[in-house]
Amino acid sequence: MNPCARSVRFTRGGLRTYLRFQEKMGLLIDAKLVSKRIERLSRIGRTPEGGVTRPGFSPKEEQAKALVRRWMAEAGLETRVDAALNLIGTRLGRDKKAPVIMTGSHLDSVPNGGKFDGVLGVLGAIEAMRSVNAAKIETQRTIEVIVFTAEEPNPFGVSTFGSRALSGSLPQGALERADPRGRTLDEILSRRGGKPEDIASARTDSSGVAAFVELHIEQGPVLDSRKIPIGIVSHLCGINRLHIDVRGRADHAGTTSMDLRRDALVAASEVILAIEGICRSKGEGVVGTVGKMNLTPNQVNVVPGHIALEVDLRALDHEIFDKIKREILEACKATAQRRGLEISLTQTSAEPPIELPESLSHMIAKVCETLGVSYLMMPSGAGHDANRMAKITRTAVIFVSSHQGLSHCPQEWTDERDIETGVRVLCETLVRLANEDG
Ligand code: HGY
Ligand code: MN
Ligand code: MN
Repeated sequence: MNPCARSVRFTRGGLRTYLRFQEKMGLLIDAKLVSKRIERLSRIGRTPEGGVTRPGFSPKEEQAKALVRRWMAEAGLETRVDAALNLIGTRLGRDKKAPVIMTGSHLDSVPNGGKFDGVLGVLGAIEAMRSVNAAKIETQRTIEVIVFTAEEPNPFGVSTFGSRALSGSLPQGALERADPRGRTLDEILSRRGGKPEDIASARTDSSGVAAFVELHIEQGPVLDSRKIPIGIVSHLCGINRLHIDVRGRADHAGTTSMDLRRDALVAASEVILAIEGICRSKGEGVVGTVGKMNLTPNQVNVVPGHIALEVDLRALDHEIFDKIKREILEACKATAQRRGLEISLTQTSAEPPIELPESLSHMIAKVCETLGVSYLMMPSGAGHDANRMAKITRTAVIFVSSHQGLSHCPQEWTDERDIETGVRVLCETLVRLANEDG
């Protein structure tokens, strides 16, 4: 268990306090409506296995946004789309000049992913705004609900694209990057209706934002195993990605004896096992995955000549990344030498872990206590748009429990009861932030 984990049980009068609060605030969260909409959205890109394939920058992602835009309008939000295709729904506060409160998440998915990842943060925020409007609650600050474009990894190598554009952290030359079909990001963004030539206009000055809160499913087993509905994220894990090229020699599978081969796939397998061993040896909080591999020529009667591996490394401790990468490099060198082939390693991204501000997580803890909801302070092993937003403003992430921790797969599931609790906590947090002094 993570050492910074802390839990609060349901207070004895929890339910009573919660009902009193609800009565006082007049806030009615319609979790059924949220569930219905999650189901509806899951039809856009549904796979035969019951999962969702809705890649970033795809027509399906835009189709999902168009539907969500309608729901935003129904909830009383003014909608607009920025140059990066981020969809923004605004609920004006009394003070139109005050820095705004932002909330939201993404609608793109991994291939054959789940229907809750990202979607809950978007639909939960809309439901929060609908209930606040229905209760005629006024706030001092404006609240903006954002659907960020393309959060998941994509062929252009620019994940969290929308939140990067908004927070001003797009890598240099990002729009010139091309996918394996040779199409540039610039071209695809234009084709979907975005304005790459005006991408700088999507950037939000940090002085214009007072806070960002993202509601998300946990995507891990901690809350479910402890039967705690809410997680308040203390740290967002760091993510480093590596590209490893293993170059052996393509040869005839029938005539090349075993001792004469320079089989790139066998060497890559050794490297993959070494990565597993290295990450295991670092203990809890460190994970390493080889989730993508390209095999050339990928032909049954040819000894594999070239393998390209994509490695995802995650840790909560910044220092440990250097050690892991050094050990992986040594393992690559040893395999290359022993097997007489070439292995090269390049780092493609390095995002440090982020500690989220305690002031905000304490505020959310107070909200949970007021509502009589138990919670856990915990780190996030997944990356989120919040990672980008944390660079420009006070940021918080609220987790709700995921069944058995399953995520990025069709089995991803969150109970409606937990959805309701999550939306309620988000809603109350947004209202408090929007009425905060200063
Ligand atoms: O990769 C991640 O952690 C996230 O789900 N995009
Ligand atoms: Mn995801
Ligand atoms: Mn997500």
